[in-house]
Amino acid sequence: MSSYHEEQPTVFVLDFGAQYAQLIARRVREARVYSEIVPFDISAEEVSRRKPAAIILSGGPASVYAEGAPHMDPAVLELGIPILGFCYGIQEMALHLGGEIPKTDIGEYGFAELSVTATDSLLLDGVPVTSQCWMSHRDSVGTAPAGFSVTARTATTAIAAMEDPTRGLFATQFHPEVAHTEFGQHIIETFLHHIAGIPPVWTMVNIIDETVALVREQVGTDRVICGLSGGVDSSVVAALLHRAIGDQLTCVFVDHGMMRLDEAEQVVRTFRDQFHIDLIHVDAEDRYLELLAGVTDPERKRHIIGEEFWQVFFEEATKLEGVKWLAQGTLYPDVIESGNKTAAKIKSHHNLIPFPAGVHFDLIEPLKALFKDEVRAVGSELGLPDEIVHRQPFPGPGLAVRIIGDITREKLDTLRSADAIIREEIGAWDTERSVWQYFGVLPDIRSVGVMGDERTYGHPIIIRAVSSADAMTADWARLPHDLLAKMSNRIINEVEGINRVAYDITSKPPGTIEWE
Ligand code: XMP
Repeated sequence: MSSYHEEQPTVFVLDFGAQYAQLIARRVREARVYSEIVPFDISAEEVSRRKPAAIILSGGPASVYAEGAPHMDPAVLELGIPILGFCYGIQEMALHLGGEIPKTDIGEYGFAELSVTATDSLLLDGVPVTSQCWMSHRDSVGTAPAGFSVTARTATTAIAAMEDPTRGLFATQFHPEVAHTEFGQHIIETFLHHIAGIPPVWTMVNIIDETVALVREQVGTDRVICGLSGGVDSSVVAALLHRAIGDQLTCVFVDHGMMRLDEAEQVVRTFRDQFHIDLIHVDAEDRYLELLAGVTDPERKRHIIGEEFWQVFFEEATKLEGVKWLAQGTLYPDVIESGNKTAAKIKSHHNLIPFPAGVHFDLIEPLKALFKDEVRAVGSELGLPDEIVHRQPFPGPGLAVRIIGDITREKLDTLRSADAIIREEIGAWDTERSVWQYFGVLPDIRSVGVMGDERTYGHPIIIRAVSSADAMTADWARLPHDLLAKMSNRIINEVEGINRVAYDITSKPPGTIEWE
């Protein structure tokens, strides 16, 4: 698949530290300019060949003097392409162009007041004389390289920004890409739109049109198959492919029976009734329940469900004639390997597909240049409902990892009913979608209670609700007591077999978000 940069003005983000580079790439795209993360040591020849419209040097955790610190090809700085460096990037620039970076051991971390000292700065145009910025560095540039003027400072960092407009080189010691830098996005946009002269043309409509064109070119008149799970990524792939190739697309929805209330119906409604996609809905609940009967080990459950998915999927796929392609919802962060040594290397088929003997489809990955928020925007633009586009992360094995112990139809129904109440109540309260994930868990224990005049011996439901940015760490959500009380009442009154409700107040780490 040819990539966007052949048609789009592209900004290269040199990756000196993965999380910084990804954030910068996203900020550039928010400024409606297409960006790609490239290895920090990309050669000047390759840069010349691929002709980015501008380059940004990311921050990174290393010190430029550290042994094995990542270094760029200095010749990239001489290509005449506008370059902006952040944090580690300003130091790289200074190092290669004859500036000085004294080892002072006086770092600056967190909020700092930025003072613009040169009112004619091109990069800081429109930034007030004082504003807030975010710093995170130990060393800093002591003397700017010849040709550069210093344009801003903070109390502890004399060179907080410098520029040499004649050579098109700009740099900041602070991090414009983080939200804590008040005028960060403004600075990035000034660089992209005014200094590098890149028009803001990377829009959702544009992304869709280009992807559609690329898919058509790649697929021609071949048939494509796509596994649909109801999740955001596979749903957007399906909608996008349908836009591109219409009835050359067949989707297979393997319904394992472990989805939440009404979810399976919604997948069918959306794709078959609304989009008129050729959808094969395989109701495999009985098959799964049989395989899972008596299985209590979480990893075993996951394994069975994963294996069976491909089994069912290929049973259906091989019934179809002339399928050449298998569509996958791989996203940009999935294709970028993190870390400094192997920065921005493309991962090889991170999701290995277990093709049965004698079966092979080529992969088509139409979302592989997009970040998750872009995928959601594309989904909305294509007319997917909010419940799908803003769906919370939901484990592939579904409710199976939220039922502790063995899985039965009855337990699934119980958890589905309680979970629906939790989703309804927190959803109505959390209109801003500030809670990352919320759901119910059905543990394998029973406790004594009393309802009316009768003693009960029922299961509890555990409510889990967390705030998080990326699911790597999470904090339990501080839900209002009234909301917790309402959910507790409703669950006990409306869901048979539940006589107690608990709220999980464990953060991650040490807990995980899911219970299994
Ligand atoms: P944990 O429980 O490890 O979860 O804190 C982190 C995030 O990953 C989701 N999750 C899964 N997603 N298959 C998936 O597709 C799984 O087996 C699985 N287990 C956990 C979880 O919901 C959370 O968002």
